[in-house]
Amino acid sequence: MPATVVVGTQWGDEGKGKFTDLVAKEMHMVVRYQGGHNAGHTLVVNGETFALQLVPSGILYDHITPVIGNGVVVDPRVLLEELDMLSSKGVDTSLLKVSGNAHLILPYHQEIDRVTERYLGKNKIGTTKRGIGPAYADKASRVGLRVQDLLDPKIFRQKLDVVVKEKNAILAKVYNQLPQSADDIAEQYLGECRERIEPMITDTVNLVHEALELDHHVLLEGAQATFLDLDHGTYPYVTSSNPVAGGACVGAGIGPRFITRVIGIAKAYVTRVGSGPFPTELFDEVGDLLVERGGEYGTNTGRRRRPGWFDAVMLRHAVRLNSLSEVALTKLDVLDTLDTVKVCVAYEIDGTRIEHLPYHQSDLHKAKPIYEQLPGWGEDLSEATERHHLPSRARDYIAFLEAQVGVPISLVGVGPGREQFLHFAA
Ligand code: IMP
Repeated sequence: MPATVVVGTQWGDEGKGKFTDLVAKEMHMVVRYQGGHNAGHTLVVNGETFALQLVPSGILYDHITPVIGNGVVVDPRVLLEELDMLSSKGVDTSLLKVSGNAHLILPYHQEIDRVTERYLGKNKIGTTKRGIGPAYADKASRVGLRVQDLLDPKIFRQKLDVVVKEKNAILAKVYNQLPQSADDIAEQYLGECRERIEPMITDTVNLVHEALELDHHVLLEGAQATFLDLDHGTYPYVTSSNPVAGGACVGAGIGPRFITRVIGIAKAYVTRVGSGPFPTELFDEVGDLLVERGGEYGTNTGRRRRPGWFDAVMLRHAVRLNSLSEVALTKLDVLDTLDTVKVCVAYEIDGTRIEHLPYHQSDLHKAKPIYEQLPGWGEDLSEATERHHLPSRARDYIAFLEAQVGVPISLVGVGPGREQFLHFAA
């Protein structure tokens, strides 16, 4: 009955797709438990790049049942486009299951996401404008439409009419926007879209438990990351779901006792997209180098990611929030050409050294990073496949991070390819 969680430990884009894919190899089932197509997981398999937004990474293995859990918000059009893209590349998508309890993202969610961001002006969140927040807001307000509503066109239409009426009043009166047509939405979603999605709609809670009862290995795949968590992230600059490991229980429908391993994915430096505090952010040529060498542009939106040094204060907090059993470090090779590598080990706030994440967000905004400096290794790591292939300075850097963070670093990524990693645990 073992379940493993893979969770991002920073602000997303840690390269979760790569290690999720690696761990998935050993699994029978991979379940996405939150978020929607705001995620962008890039996998490079046999030289071919796959950019997944909604479909679980396990889709690329024939032996895995990929599951979109109840905690996910699903834009059916995006789901079908992604499945068509995968099929055109020869990937078998027939095993995909979608929870009937997952909520739908409908066109008005995207419109509201777009106009509220504009309305917020300089206080905008910097969302992906995919309708994620408005869809989760409707879920919490109990006016959301769920995937299972596609099975009953009459109910779908009844719920849609009520909600579109309310959204149109808001769009017109608050945002001065044109109304949405319930007829158009119904036509779009209840036709071919419904026909294609219907066979995938499943009681995924039952499915996951049947797998666990058979002692099958289940991977719970997080999207976004710990510091984008609605409760634990840098609110309001967060996403509208719970990426932390606890969210996996809710979003897949299992209890915490099933989870035996929690792998936190951390990049060897940090990036963030959108607004919000970022103590180790770099505005200099080192930042530019991290962006260029790391290809730090959104898979999804193309936005340049904000770069910064590795922040051990954040990571220690992520260890606690997620009960991490280990960390998988990604993109170490991006640091190859640097003479010196810095790690933030504490913050200075109003003249006081603080070793943990401040509780008050205003303090985080004024936190100045206290760095330890380590020598760079000046060697190309991209061919390393064993721990002893790494130059000693790279090993020292990893050991330093391990000591700072307090849990083992088990895997280290040295390039985008499926094979470009090494097992690091002693
Ligand atoms: P939303 O999830 O589109 O509502 O965006 C809320 C915040 O989360 C914004 O700062 C986004 O840039 C960020 N975000 C959402 N998804 C991802 C992701 O997959 N990687 C990194 N940041 C993300």
